[in-house]
Amino acid sequence: MPVIDLRGIKREYRMGGKRGGNASGNTGDPAGENAVVVRALRGIDFSTEAGEFVSVMGPSGSGKSTLMNIIGCLDKPSEGTYSLDGIETSTSDSNTFAYIRNRKIGFVFQSFNLLARTTALENVELPLFYSRSKKDEKQNAMTRRERAIAALKEVGLAERMHHFPSQLSGGQQQRVAIARAMVNDPAFILADEPTGNLDTEMTLEIMGLFQELNRQGKTIIMVTHEPELAAYTKRIITLRDGKLVSDEQVTNRRSALDDLAIWKQEHALLAGEGA
Ligand SMILES: Nc1ncnc2c1ncn2[C@@H]1O[C@H](COP(=O)(O)OP(=O)(O)O)[C@@H](O)[C@H]1O
Ligand SMILES: [Mg+2]
Repeated sequence: MPVIDLRGIKREYRMGGKRGGNASGNTGDPAGENAVVVRALRGIDFSTEAGEFVSVMGPSGSGKSTLMNIIGCLDKPSEGTYSLDGIETSTSDSNTFAYIRNRKIGFVFQSFNLLARTTALENVELPLFYSRSKKDEKQNAMTRRERAIAALKEVGLAERMHHFPSQLSGGQQQRVAIARAMVNDPAFILADEPTGNLDTEMTLEIMGLFQELNRQGKTIIMVTHEPELAAYTKRIITLRDGKLVSDEQVTNRRSALDDLAIWKQEHALLAGEGA
């Protein structure tokens, strides 16, 4: 059974016109004559099995964010069906939809999105509060803490768990965010330009971490516009004008940690020459 199964996904944005009204207080056009329809996604078929590591590429405006919002259950398609881990999301009510989002998806954003006045450990514990179901009520604070510590260990940050985000490097903050994304044991991790705010060294470290997590069986979907980063994943899908125009397995997959070692060597040589 696929983890993600999208069939005939379309998403249209209707600007002005019949529906009437917009954020700037325009009351619209009852006849719909001035409606402008933006076809952000024009029929996407895509499915992912457990254990895949997929990059989503495509030029600006091609529909990546729209697709990510749908895959992330932040938005519903205008047409088509999306089944996540066997649950049909398009017909689910808003409670179920929110439950699926909290339980089944681990989000990683470009800007980390950590709570500033909250330690690494507490940041990672947070999803365990939100996702409590009746059945989980019995789960006590100790278990939550243990699970959060285990997730921080997985990203190699256990010794920093009592630090606040401001006391951590960008790469370490993103590790905390990845631990937070994993703590619920989601069906997949959805990462939107996860290294967009990081320098080369930290980028390679984070890509190395994703490769290791994927090796352990985690399913990862990552939006990136950088081909060098897509080369660390296993499969690349490319969008153009709201359509999926290519879907390729990566043949000679690079190792981010090998590339990091090479980068460090070159860096040391350059520093040596400068001295
Ligand atoms: N909320 C919105 N309202 C109207 N049009 C939108 C909205 N969001 C995106 N679009 C349009 O949909 C298309 C795809 O956008 P997007 O998914 O953001 O692409 P990408 O992330 O690849 O840059 C673009 O033409 C964009 O202008
Ligand atoms: Mg975008």
